[in-house]
Amino acid sequence: MFPRLCKLARKISNHHIKFYKTCGLQSRFFTSPSHNSSTSVNSKTKSKSDYVMSLEKKYGAHNYKSIPVVLERGQGVFVWDIEGNKYFDFLSAYSAVNQGHCHPRIIEAFTKQASQLTLCSRAFYNDALGEYSQFITNYFGYPRVLPMNTGVEACESSVKIARRWGYEVKKIPNNEAIILFAEGNFWGRSIAAVSASTDPDSYTNYGPYTPNFEKKACKNSSFYDGANSRRSRCYYT
Ligand SMILES: Cc1ncc(COP(=O)(O)O)c(C=O)c1O
Repeated sequence: MFPRLCKLARKISNHHIKFYKTCGLQSRFFTSPSHNSSTSVNSKTKSKSDYVMSLEKKYGAHNYKSIPVVLERGQGVFVWDIEGNKYFDFLSAYSAVNQGHCHPRIIEAFTKQASQLTLCSRAFYNDALGEYSQFITNYFGYPRVLPMNTGVEACESSVKIARRWGYEVKKIPNNEAIILFAEGNFWGRSIAAVSASTDPDSYTNYGPYTPNFEKKACKNSSFYDGANSRRSRCYYT
């Protein structure tokens, strides 16, 4: 949620990411935010990809403008589309697969666990969570961990933790906790996330928004000026 990362994330989600296509020794960019698929999809193979994209367009919600390349498989830093074209995957699922596609050790651990105990709710203990928690907290040097499935859940939880700390430790009067966000932030698409956003593409027509979210330019250290003087502030992004 630091400004530079936010700016980068926004760029990514606006599809200014450049996708390299490799053809032997030749490389070229894919930029295609506006989706004239004819600009980037090889014409000789256009119909196969177009068919798949048309299914999404017809039956899927129109909530995302994907780059018009239909990926089918990946290995390490490479991905292949359904036409057999090979690409460097510089996007890495917005960093969710920074370790590379189909990493053999991860696939092995994943399949082993899924075939042993596919899912365990927190209604029970399981034989892996304690050991994982010990490892990850030692590794990163934090006292405790609360694992999350997604980025937006992680940020939502941090908002909850900050508010609860504000009420129970800082003694902020009930329902008066204020959370301060850097302008230009991006941390997901939930109601709280869009309430924190300063990007009209993210927040327009989703009101009413989460109250007590303040947004402030974050160009230099003045972002924090006076932060402690406001009794109700409990958290800074
Ligand atoms: C910077 C940043 N934070 C948070 C999120 C939300 O993550 P998730 O999609 O896993 O909820 C994203 C997703 O694009 C992101 O780019």
